[in-house]
Order: sequence, then structure tokens, then C-alpha cells
Amino acid sequence: MVEAGTPGASWRFSDPEDCTKEAQRVLRQNDRGGYTVPTPNIYPFQWNWDSCLVALGWVTFDETRAWQEIESLFIGQWPDGMVPHIVFHRDDPGYFPGPDIWGTASLWGDRLAVPTSGISDPPLAATIALKLWRGARDQQQAKAAVERLYPKIAAWHRWFHTARDPAQDGMVAILHPWESGRDNSQDWDAALSRVPTDDLPPFQRRDLDRVDAAQRPRKEQYERYLSLILTFRGKGYEPKAIYEASPFRMVDIGTVAILLRADRDLRVLAETLGYREDLVEIDRWIARGESALDRLWDETAGVFRSYDLISGGFTDAITSASFLPFYGGGVKPERCTRMVEVLERWGTQSSYPVPSFDPGDQRFDSLRYWRGPTWAIVNHMIAEGLTGCGHEGWAARIAGATARAIRQSGFWEYFDPITGRGLGGDDFTWTAAMWLAWARDFSPPNDSSEDAA
Ligand code: GLC
Repeated sequence: MVEAGTPGASWRFSDPEDCTKEAQRVLRQNDRGGYTVPTPNIYPFQWNWDSCLVALGWVTFDETRAWQEIESLFIGQWPDGMVPHIVFHRDDPGYFPGPDIWGTASLWGDRLAVPTSGISDPPLAATIALKLWRGARDQQQAKAAVERLYPKIAAWHRWFHTARDPAQDGMVAILHPWESGRDNSQDWDAALSRVPTDDLPPFQRRDLDRVDAAQRPRKEQYERYLSLILTFRGKGYEPKAIYEASPFRMVDIGTVAILLRADRDLRVLAETLGYREDLVEIDRWIARGESALDRLWDETAGVFRSYDLISGGFTDAITSASFLPFYGGGVKPERCTRMVEVLERWGTQSSYPVPSFDPGDQRFDSLRYWRGPTWAIVNHMIAEGLTGCGHEGWAARIAGATARAIRQSGFWEYFDPITGRGLGGDDFTWTAAMWLAWARDFSPPNDSSEDAA
């Protein structure tokens, strides 16, 4: 393991207090009144799982604003329960594909208040709402917010468990790589190669105006992202029609783990609020999630993997999402031990774990988005899960590495897991939120010569 730095002149923030003030500034700067944008230059709208995680940052200094971050997301909820991955509260020409490409504005008539994308995102809202409620200083405000949110979140989970799991066996599918939140992961390469790209209209990406192309998805991936959208749009986003038509139908291990955790947390919300009549249905979802997780375990590799519902096999990648079942909870101790062995191996090959892809695989790319770089949000979820199953040492190591990367480089979208160099967009909201909510507690103090990791 290459040891990576103690606070010094080359650090962007040698004083952790300055880092905290700057993180708060980033959240305020990216606040558009009730919701934040991930970073103004690349992502000028509200993103679903970003907002849920960003609420954990807001709550450290403005509890009311934290609740707004989640509630504003549900302004974009579709009448069928789906919560889109982007809510276009206000138009902005700086992003492709914008609301005109998605074409959802007229889909639901006046039943949808704002234009949105037509696909979803990993469902974190129940988990974050429960966490905020448990820690709330203002219990009255928290209870009122959860009362409003609960039926909306339950409808979203029901949508996942029906529209995306027609076989009713827990193998909940994503139909677009963006639904995993890990856009260009090696997990999706084989399935994406099935997506046709003939007859695409000409289009212009906006991300490459702002970020070095070496750190972003390639052109051929963007073409396939667009092709899928146009297929879904052509079918009016009707759930059954798009499930059947999509050449990309994947069981993302990250989504399954996050949904399982969220179902468990939704159950706690239902019980506490007195919605006992919902428990039977939620228990069924939890049982299905557990059985799907079992099917996604690869005994030979000693990790969980994503699964291709069309080809009928595991993906050939081990990614950071393979560790998200720690967050989902309930992983058998012997499996946890096997997974930690894989983490150990990855830790000898990267100073800032957890890389988003196996650093020992020749397809590893330390710069390119979800094909190698380390992401604070995923690290946070993995670390929280590791703590829950008795691997506090590894949890602290991941948190310490994330804190070091932030203090050395700033609030970047993602980081090179070998050097800690910041990559992608700067002043990134969820990275700032992860500093406030978590990483700062594992950061070395200003004058320390010891590494917290
Ligand atoms: C990228 C990321 C996704 C995130 C979005 C906004 O698409 O892959 O996970 O939600 O940017 O930050």
C-alpha cells in the first residue's frame, strides 16, 4: 500500500475547519432554492440519488433545508410511482440530453408539475429519511416531513417491485446504465454492445466542453445511452413495453442492495407511523430482495456481481457496487470475510480505496469516470455497511482515504484512486456533503503527522 500524504503545503486544505467551511459554501452555491444541482457547469438540474445523499450534508448545518432537498425531488414523481433520475425544475441549455430529448413534458398532461427524465435512480430516499428522522433535533418537523414523504416513497418502491420485476422474484431490472448511477461501468459493456446505434439523429454532448474527454464516457457509449432513451420515448415510457423492448435489461447489484436496505428502512417508517397494513407487502419485497441477493453471489470470486437478464449470466466485472451489499445488510459473516479479502487485494493496488473497478484487471482506467476512479458517495455507503458487520477497521480506512483525497484536491466529482488527484467536475455537491456528513470525522487534524487511514 502506497502511503498517501499528511497535511502539508501541497494540500488544498491543510486545516480541516477550512475544508468544512468550504463544503458548506459549495452546498449554498449549488442551492437553487429547495434543491441543489450536482455542479452548475456539467449538471444544472436536480439529480435523484445526489439529492438524497446531499441531504446528509445539509442536515449538519441546516435541518430544514435537508428535508427540502428530499421533498423537492418528489415534485417530479410520476403518477405511476416512478421517481425520475433528473428533475428539470428550470430549463438550462448546458446539458445533453435535456427535457426536449426526453420528451416527457406532455406525457402525463397536467398530472406532472415539471419535465423530468424518463428513467429512475438507486432508491435512497427511505434510508435517508429514516436517518434524518432518527437524528433530528426538531422532531416535530421531521415527523411531518416523513408523514408527507412516506406514501410517495412507498409508491416508488412498489413501482420497482412491479414495473421492474415482472417475474416477482426480486431480480429488479435497470433498463439504462444511468439508472445504476454508474454510467460507463465495465459492468455494462457487453449488454450495451447490443444496443443499436444506426438511425440516431446528430447530437452534441455538452459535458466535453467542460471536462477532459479522458475522464468521461466515450462517444460510442453516449450513442447507446441516447438510443435507449429514444426507444423508451417511442413507447411512451410504458413500463411493460419498455421492459420488453429494451436490449439492456440488467440486475445491478448496487440497485438491488440499495433497494433492499431501503425496503428495510421503509418497513421501520411504516411501523413507526402506524401503517401496519403495509407491512405484509413490504415483508414480501424484503424476502424477494434477500433471495435475489443470494442469486447474485459468486462463490468462486467471493463477491456479489451484477447479472444480465437477457444473456442469462453474471457480468464479467467486479466493481465498487459489488461491495454495496454491505450497505444492503444481512450478508452472511463468511461472505463478508470473502468480500473483505477482495478489498484487501484492491487496497494493495490503490492508495485511495474503493476504486470503482478492479485495479488488478487490465480494463482498469484510473481516470475514466466509473471505470476506475473512487467516488466519495459509494465509499460512504460501503464504509457504513462494513461498520454494520464488524469490519470497522476497513470502514475507517476507506473514510480516511476519502478525507485525504478531499483535503489534498478539493470537492471533485471523483478521484484517481492511485494518486488522489481530483477528476471530473469541481465544487461537486455530493462530495462536499460526504465531507460534512462523514469523511471529516476520519480526517487527520491540522498539525498531525499521523495518517488517519
Ligand atoms: C453522473 C453520475 C451519476 C450522478 C450524476 C449527477 O451521471 O454517473 O451517478 O447521479 O452524474 O451527479
